[in-house]
Amino acid sequence: MPSAQHLPLSVAALRRTRQAARFGGVMHYFDSIDSTNTAARRLALDGATEGTVVIAETQTKGRGRLGRAWVSPPFRNLYLSIIVRPPIATADAPQLVLVAGLAVAETVREWTARAAIKWPNDVLVDGRKVAGILTEMDDDDDRVRFVIIGIGVNLNSVATDFPPELRDKAVGLCTAVGAPIDRVAFTDHLLSRLEERYELFVHQGFAAVGPLWEGLSCLTGKPVEVDDGYRRYAGVAVGIAGDGSLRLRDATGSEIRVVVGDVTVVGGYDGA
Ligand code: BTN
Repeated sequence: MPSAQHLPLSVAALRRTRQAARFGGVMHYFDSIDSTNTAARRLALDGATEGTVVIAETQTKGRGRLGRAWVSPPFRNLYLSIIVRPPIATADAPQLVLVAGLAVAETVREWTARAAIKWPNDVLVDGRKVAGILTEMDDDDDRVRFVIIGIGVNLNSVATDFPPELRDKAVGLCTAVGAPIDRVAFTDHLLSRLEERYELFVHQGFAAVGPLWEGLSCLTGKPVEVDDGYRRYAGVAVGIAGDGSLRLRDATGSEIRVVVGDVTVVGGYDGA
């Protein structure tokens, strides 16, 4: 049984707040599921409309980037996937992870101004990860058919809910804020932000989103190393390019663009 602090999500209340909205107007709720991204993908292949949401209390096979697992203890956090069908080329689909990252960071900032985005898909508070995003795409003839945007937010996890190796890297928003987080309110605000930023992206392109994203980035100006699984890059992060790739200035003054990879800030963060 959940403790008094860890009750099931009041899905009826969440459905009421979202019933007229495009994002979350249709919501599938599960006590336990393998992965909300997998469930959303099944629904998308069956023709589910844009804005359909899958939420679970726990995931038995929650997935993170680069084949990692996403720790998903029950009744504490948010594990959500949403189906979008943007009218964009396959090549532009990676920009969506940044669009979603912006919406998640802006939502977290409604609870604490100490939140920042770490390229490409992490939201940090005080340098520790509070949320991650995993997008998975399906396309046809170089056009996107659908994208599943999977979002995991550590809301009410405390240190002992994380495996020991993650305890200095991850944090629950409740710990950062010093109070339990209302999961219905957070999810409602997140879906509203996501809808707003997604509409901006679809109607005005990534050029309208990029400056907002840059304004919340914790990497700009910092010396970083990036591991893309094949090689390591080192340089100072100078921003993101129009396609969403990370721009680095290396020791020779040349600009490097990194499309995928894990970023480490040399010497750690001072603040967010
Ligand atoms: C990452 O930071 O590596 C991305 C983590 C994404 C986790 C979320 S939880 C909801 C959705 N379902 C999954 O299996 N993964 C995403």
